Amino acid sequence: MMRSWIHFTRGRFVRQARVGLGELREEHLSRHGFAGPVAMLYRTDGPNEVVRIEGDYRPRQIDSADVVAADAGDPRGGPLTLLSNEDVAIAISRRRQAMPYCYRNIDGDLLYFVHRGNGLFATEFGPLRYEPGDYILLPKGTTFRLMPDDQDSLLLVVEAPQPIRLCEHEQVGRHTPVDPTVLQVPDVADYEWPKQDEWEIRIKHKGAHTSIFYRNNPMNVVGWKGDLFPFKLNVRDIRPIMSDRIHLAPSSWVTFEGTGFVVLSFLPQIAVGDLNAEELPSYHRNIDMDEVMLTHADEDPQDRRPGGFAFTPQGVLHGVNEAFRAEFQARRITGTRRTRTGIGVDSYRPLNVSPEFARMTE
Ligand SMILES: [Fe+2]
Repeated sequence: MMRSWIHFTRGRFVRQARVGLGELREEHLSRHGFAGPVAMLYRTDGPNEVVRIEGDYRPRQIDSADVVAADAGDPRGGPLTLLSNEDVAIAISRRRQAMPYCYRNIDGDLLYFVHRGNGLFATEFGPLRYEPGDYILLPKGTTFRLMPDDQDSLLLVVEAPQPIRLCEHEQVGRHTPVDPTVLQVPDVADYEWPKQDEWEIRIKHKGAHTSIFYRNNPMNVVGWKGDLFPFKLNVRDIRPIMSDRIHLAPSSWVTFEGTGFVVLSFLPQIAVGDLNAEELPSYHRNIDMDEVMLTHADEDPQDRRPGGFAFTPQGVLHGVNEAFRAEFQARRITGTRRTRTGIGVDSYRPLNVSPEFARMTE
């Protein structure tokens, strides 16, 4: 990572970023997420009062419930990709019926996040039942069947050609923000599925599908060992890193990391107690990262409706607007709780907007 060590100051600025701003508005202009060279820019006007946008390079927002994926109506259908680049693809599955085949993705790891619905990931390692708030990581090539219980489900699907790993936050110990033993790892099971003459494994490779049919049920594994396995983690088992005196940059909330992207969990937590410190995400231009956010839940849904799916391309100023900031600051008292749960995917290389997502955000 490019690092610099020369800092300058000019004009009006605060001694400690994010603290004691008074009438100033602070904009965080940074490279490499929030880890690289940075400038704080100070203004007395709100920097994010958008009047209009002309052109295609802009934030895009939809209600994820409006996504019509092929797997909603066709059990052999797939999720709908909204955004992708060489490192990561972000899709939404609305699968209503069980896969009538076993599935194997050779294009990379699959990380599911369950926004809505319950069901079963039947894997060759054993069953993983799922519920809202679950992340399910399926390493590349894992054989599985997705078998939802409900009629309605909404799953975020993150696919990456390079391995997706649980992020280790080295400076805060081995059990923070996730104790690794809270991960749920499948144990072998006999699925007791009715006998079949042949068993289909539907394989995805370079985006295309091939089916190989086997005489014996490929899910009949009677034991396994090793350090390559699927697992699940519910967001309620993540204990967010926080500070009472300063709003932490989102990199502290990374849950998974892959080559060229990270997956973040924004979780309910107590707001910064120091009323002199900015609580809200500062105005920022994350100049090296595209940002994607699914609002999973909000205990105070008047503010932000769960299910919102937002895309902010790198370099576009965001944060809040002045009206929201003023209202939030006015009702903020020590001990205020932030109520939102959001799942973020931030990528270094720019994401391409799929034709379907573009149409939905025209
Ligand atoms: Fe951001």
